[in-house]
Amino acid sequence: KERNPYIQAVYDLTLEWTRRNGSPWLYSDFIYNLTKGGKKFKENCDFVHKVADDVIEKRRQALKDDEVSSKKYLDFLDILLTARDEDGNRMSKEDIRNKVDTFMFEGHDTTASAISWILYSLAEHPDHQKQCQEEIDRVVSETKSGELEWKDLERLEYLTRCIKEGMRLHTPVPLIIRNNQSTITVDNEVVPAGSTILINIYSLHHNAEIWGEDHMKFKPERFTKENMEKRDSFAFCPFSAGPRNCIGQNFAMSEEKIVLATLLQRFTFTVDEKHIVEKQVLVVMRAKNGIKLFAIPR
Ligand code: HEM
Repeated sequence: KERNPYIQAVYDLTLEWTRRNGSPWLYSDFIYNLTKGGKKFKENCDFVHKVADDVIEKRRQALKDDEVSSKKYLDFLDILLTARDEDGNRMSKEDIRNKVDTFMFEGHDTTASAISWILYSLAEHPDHQKQCQEEIDRVVSETKSGELEWKDLERLEYLTRCIKEGMRLHTPVPLIIRNNQSTITVDNEVVPAGSTILINIYSLHHNAEIWGEDHMKFKPERFTKENMEKRDSFAFCPFSAGPRNCIGQNFAMSEEKIVLATLLQRFTFTVDEKHIVEKQVLVVMRAKNGIKLFAIPR
């Protein structure tokens, strides 16, 4: 099936970015920009920027400042377009686009990865899948509308445990990068200011000292309240930690619960034994040849 052109372009960018990272001879922009891959990278960049620019321009046209002030809730784009600093200057077009790009990328690829991998683990573990389905059926049967409502999401405790365990085991954002502004010392090792530091969240989630020798196993009971209290709160960091952690994490958790609960309410998933699922880190955690599942109507 054909992919949406925006999704395809983001996929190609992550593939090309990862390839360039592994090819030191392509680090010079001058050389890289002359290569086929470099040219295609620029083309894809221009395309995703244009998609974001169109979204911004449409809103800019639709909005007059006085209309915004009468709006009950300002959304993200309204705020960016109307923000002024202390000197009354607006954000530059490029700054706004950078923010919109981050949201559009972080907002779709990460949750898509999380949901796919969690569903895969549930398909591999019919017992846990069944417990999720029973919980969803019970919670839905107790609602007035007969459908899952916003306030019910926090009642899906078993599903939440499976989501967290899936995000530990598969880690949708496996690596993040920081530049340290000042010299720091970690375990007696001095890291000079201006170093590039790669933080491997996937390895953190597979530290056998914390998670045990069975860290490759899907065990949602790791996330019962009692077991969580026993662990360091930084042992599980799918959304990173600190002042630049994920702003979308509550939204992402809700999205995962809604999509998974809706799917599990209607279908039972099983794995396709003939298809080999292989992890591939392309900015987010992907599967090399995709994940194939059977969806059996309940
Ligand atoms: C399962 C889903 C998600 C995961 C695992 C995830 C993970 C992360 C991580 C690890 C970071 C830190 C990146 C870094 O330090 O380089 C981050 C940042 C960010 N995320 Fe998410 N994210 C998810 C969903 C979302 C969603 C749905 C949105 C928006 C709707 C979002 C918006 C952002 C933004 C704007 C940042 C940058 C924050 C900053 O730099 O201050 N994320 N995310």
